[in-house]
Parts: sequence; structure tokens; C-alpha cells
Amino acid sequence: MEKFVVRGGNPLLGTIKVSGAKNSALPCMAAAILTEDEVILENIPQVNDIETERKLLTSMGAEVELGYGRAQHRTRIKCAILSDPVAKYEIVKTMRASSLVLGPLIARTGIARVAMPGGCAIGGRPIDLHINGLEAMGATITQDHGYLEARADRLKGAHIVFDKITVTGTEDLLMAATLAEGESVFENCAREPEVTDLAALLIAMGAKIEGAGTGTIRIQGVSRLHGARHRINPDRIEAGTFLIAGAITGGDLNVDCCEPKHLGALITKLEQCGVKIDVGADHVRVRSGGELKAADVTTEEYPGFPTDMQAQYMALATQAEGTSTVIENIFENRFMHVQELIRMGANISISGRTATVRGKTPLQSAAVMCSDLRASASLVLAALVADGETILDRVYHLDRGYEHFEEKLRGVGAQIRRMGDVFGKK
Ligand code: UD1
Repeated sequence: MEKFVVRGGNPLLGTIKVSGAKNSALPCMAAAILTEDEVILENIPQVNDIETERKLLTSMGAEVELGYGRAQHRTRIKCAILSDPVAKYEIVKTMRASSLVLGPLIARTGIARVAMPGGCAIGGRPIDLHINGLEAMGATITQDHGYLEARADRLKGAHIVFDKITVTGTEDLLMAATLAEGESVFENCAREPEVTDLAALLIAMGAKIEGAGTGTIRIQGVSRLHGARHRINPDRIEAGTFLIAGAITGGDLNVDCCEPKHLGALITKLEQCGVKIDVGADHVRVRSGGELKAADVTTEEYPGFPTDMQAQYMALATQAEGTSTVIENIFENRFMHVQELIRMGANISISGRTATVRGKTPLQSAAVMCSDLRASASLVLAALVADGETILDRVYHLDRGYEHFEEKLRGVGAQIRRMGDVFGKK
């Protein structure tokens, strides 16, 4: 398994570019299932989850060309024939977002077989809200041998009030409703920019959608969708990770090609911590404003502080003067990074969903283990300010969602390199 070796101490200086959002790209690729025409997506990040989604779609009979037309970040998808509408366990187990194909598959082919996602490092991640919604739209769903099988001649529009705000649940049902008969009204929807990005693609494909990005979405079903070309939003979590990298190292970093409007909660918090921020049209500059100050964080649905930035923020909090309380409201058990940060010298205690970080503590290098995607990023951030050389194991978690992470950080002065295991294997 590959590792990162990070030597701390360098302030990050210069310009770092943000890639396309993985969490927009995944539903947009799934949306291609809804049409037999060609869908071309620009700004697709080169990360392992995208490769997994490619495998998933091709295993169903789709043509998927990553790097289409010699443009590294362009993808062409054509689902002319979906001969095998099955999301196999071998693929689903590595990427929970595979459940995003459920809605579009039933809507397009009338049948979908999708392996049930198992447990996950960041808590049980059920898909009951996807299932209830599809049933409300007339699908019959059965379960056997670890698979869900959904059938419907044609889905019918429905009025659905989500019990809980779910990002991929909103996306899954939104895709299903585009081809359903009649009108659907969804309430208590996720307002994340990734939902809005997906809706923009669906509208370009001929779907009739109003209200994406608000709590209520209305969809008039159509009988067919056509091909489209769409550019994926910049990745707000990658951008946020870089902002923290600039802040934690006391650097001067220009985070370029991002969408500052999507970073509001994080920017506000960094300003509370005493970091200097300048916001441009498509870039954010982060600079040291002297000592970092503690500030409390509570994760919430968008536009609140993202759960996907909680682990990285906690690394920053270890370097701030005072006590920061970090409350994780979205997922249970999303504090896997805490033990590793403590091993590096952080002073953090956990009680239920609340972590209390007492700073500032000097961090020391150690051998640490990545447990999930964002926890891995948190450990890299901590390592950037630790004394000595930190070795991070299991960086495959990070490769799921960050494009060329170490190259990008090296370009702005970080000392980070990738190392194969003793046998040189991945
Ligand atoms: C998406 C993001 C993930 C992010 C999360 C929250 C993608 C591919 N992933 O995940 O990076 O951390 O949003 O912003 O976009 N829930 C249920 N039943 C369901 C679905 C969800 O109870 O059927 C619960 C979950 O357990 C969790 C909460 O709802 O407690 C929010 O989860 P959800 O928004 O669905 O997360 P994902 O869409 O899986």
C-alpha cells in the first residue's frame, strides 16, 4: 500500500489550482444513464472514485471514455444500451455513491439491481430515504442476497418530504423524477451546490426542474431526455482543504479556479480564527494574520459548515490558541482522525458528537493511518506543521477524492512524496 512521507515546517506560498468536484461528477455521470444519447462532461477530476464509476457504468453496458478528445478532464458517456442494469457488490462496496445509479436505472430501464452498501468508517450510511422515495413513485422494491431489486413500468410523479436532508438521496430521486409520469414535488431537499450542478445538467438534457438549490424542488416528468455537454463545478471541499493548508502553515496561498460563493461558511470561520482572506471572482487568497485563534464549529447541511471539512478544520484547531468545540451533526462516528491527531501530540477529547480541541499544541511526526477520505486530508495538514517526517499509511483513501494531491501541494512548497510499499505495489 502506498504511503505519503511529509516533512513539516514549510509555509505554503504561491498559487494552487482546484479541480472539478468529485461529488458533482459522480451524480452527473449517473445522469447519463437517463439518455441513450451522448453526454459530455468537462472538468471531471482524475480521482479513483471516478474510475470506479466508469467501471460501474461500463459493467452495465455503457461506453465511458475518460480523457475524451485528448482532454484529460473531459469524459464522454453513451448509454445507448444498458444490457446489464446491475450495480455489483464488488463495485458498490468501494464506493457508497454507487447507490446514485438506482433512480436513473429504474427510470430508464424499468429495472435496477443494486448491491446494498455495507457499513462504513464514518457511520452507517443507510439508503432508506432513496428506497422510500422510489416506492412513493411506484417502484416495487425487493431484497435478496444483499441486493435491492427495483421494478417499475414507468415511475409516477410524487410528493415527497424527506425525513432527513440527504444529498445523494435528493440527487437520486431528482434523476428518477425527470422521466416519471407527471409532476413531482420534493420538500426538505439538500441545497448543496452539487445538487444544483446535477440539476443544471439534467435541464440541459431536457428535464423540467425548478427550485434546485432550495429546499423545494418541482419536476415535470418528460418522456425522454437527450444528450448534453456540461462543465462540472469546482470542488469546494478540495478548495477548502487548500485554504486550511495555507492557514495552518502560516503561508500565503492563492486558491485558484474555485467558486468562492460555495465556501462561505469556511471563509467566515477562518476569519474568526484570525486568518486573512481576500476573495476574488474565482480565487481566494489566504494569508497568515498572526497567531491562530480558537473558534467553535458545528457541521450542518449546506450552506452551513460542511461535514466534509470537519476533519481538516480540526487539524487547524490544534494550532489555534484556546479551546475549540467541534460538533459533528451529520454523521455518527466521524472522528476517526482524532486518535491519529492525538498520537501526533494534539489535545482532543471526545464526548458523543462533540470534540474539544485544546490548543495550541506542537505536533510531532509519527506513523499514522488514514481511515477515510477527509480524515486523510486532515492528517496531511497536521503533518505539514509537525516536527519531523510523518508517514501516512493507506493513502488510497485520499486518492478516492483528491486529484494529484501531493503534486499540487509540492508545487506550493510542501515537502511531501509518495512511497510504494516494500514490494513496490499499490
Ligand atoms: C454526500 C457526500 C458526502 C458528504 C455528505 C454530507 C457524495 C457522493 N457524498 O454523502 O461527501 O459527507 O453528502 O454532506 O455526494 N441518511 C439516511 N438515510 C438515507 C440517506 C442518508 O438516514 O437514505 C442519513 C445519513 O446517514 C447521514 C445523513 O442522512 O446521517 C446525511 O447523509 P447524506 O446527505 O445522504 O450523505 P451522502 O449523500 O451519502
